[in-house]
Amino acid sequence: MLNQDDREKMDINRRYWEDVVAVHAGSRFYDVPGFIAGENRLDELERGEVGDVNGKSLLHLQCHFGLDTLSWARLGARVTGVDYSREAVETARSLTRECGLDARFIQCNLYDLPGQLDEQFDVVFTSYGVLSWLPDIRAWARIAASYVKPGGFFYIAEFHPFAYVFNDEADHLEYRYLYFNTQPTRWEMAGTYTGAEDKPEQHEDWEWAYRLGDVVTALIDAGLRLEFLHEHPFTVYEQFPFLVKTGHMRWGFPGGTQLIPLMFSLKAGNALG
Ligand SMILES: C[S@@+](CC[C@H](N)C(=O)[O-])C[C@H]1O[C@@H](n2cnc3c(N)ncnc32)[C@H](O)[C@@H]1O
Repeated sequence: MLNQDDREKMDINRRYWEDVVAVHAGSRFYDVPGFIAGENRLDELERGEVGDVNGKSLLHLQCHFGLDTLSWARLGARVTGVDYSREAVETARSLTRECGLDARFIQCNLYDLPGQLDEQFDVVFTSYGVLSWLPDIRAWARIAASYVKPGGFFYIAEFHPFAYVFNDEADHLEYRYLYFNTQPTRWEMAGTYTGAEDKPEQHEDWEWAYRLGDVVTALIDAGLRLEFLHEHPFTVYEQFPFLVKTGHMRWGFPGGTQLIPLMFSLKAGNALG
């Protein structure tokens, strides 16, 4: 259950997510001109694992300013994106118009979504940098599961929690943070993941850490039936300075070594389906 303190921390975070949207939308990382010109922003990982979405309804939780949501729309899905950042949702709506796509975006805190959206979807999707903003993983799982139609599924591709125990500024894998930390952590941030040249104003944020087992168990307890859990030795941003670029939006260890998992992906169906 969320308490007042969780709400206050989420509000501090939301202010960060309001400020950073313009920086991200202008970044080379997100390459909005390329997207407008027709590029698809989805990684081959989620495209392959989610499969054909043509004609399917898809709910995208924590959709940021909508590039991935609109990429699913370009593949034929009927999409709904949800994010609590007003800037993010407004930017997503304006990109929808500019690209001539059909999409619905809802500005709402995920934890309040059941009061605003009463529907079920073939696919409930979320990805890359979503879990650390959530104060209650079990409530998140229940909400995500409640939007999956019988016969539909939930899918997440996310950074692996084990990779977060290492110092992201060191030039080698250097252990730094507890895997079993259960307390929210306050960070002072000067940059953002889109690159060194993108510098939003100094800000604070609060993040929560979850073990892989917490995530899987929360989804199973929410009534979903696990179809797969994959761990990957590559990632979609330069998480450590010593990673090498191995493809479009792909980073891995030098020499192709598979030292630790950097991401995981999971698919779970509605048990009634
Ligand atoms: C790292 S971004 C996701 C980025 C996305 N994978 C992409 O590349 O476009 C995390 C998003 O979660 C949103 N968010 C965080 N907490 C939320 C909450 N409680 N409810 C709704 N949105 C939330 C933020 O506004 C932000 O847009």
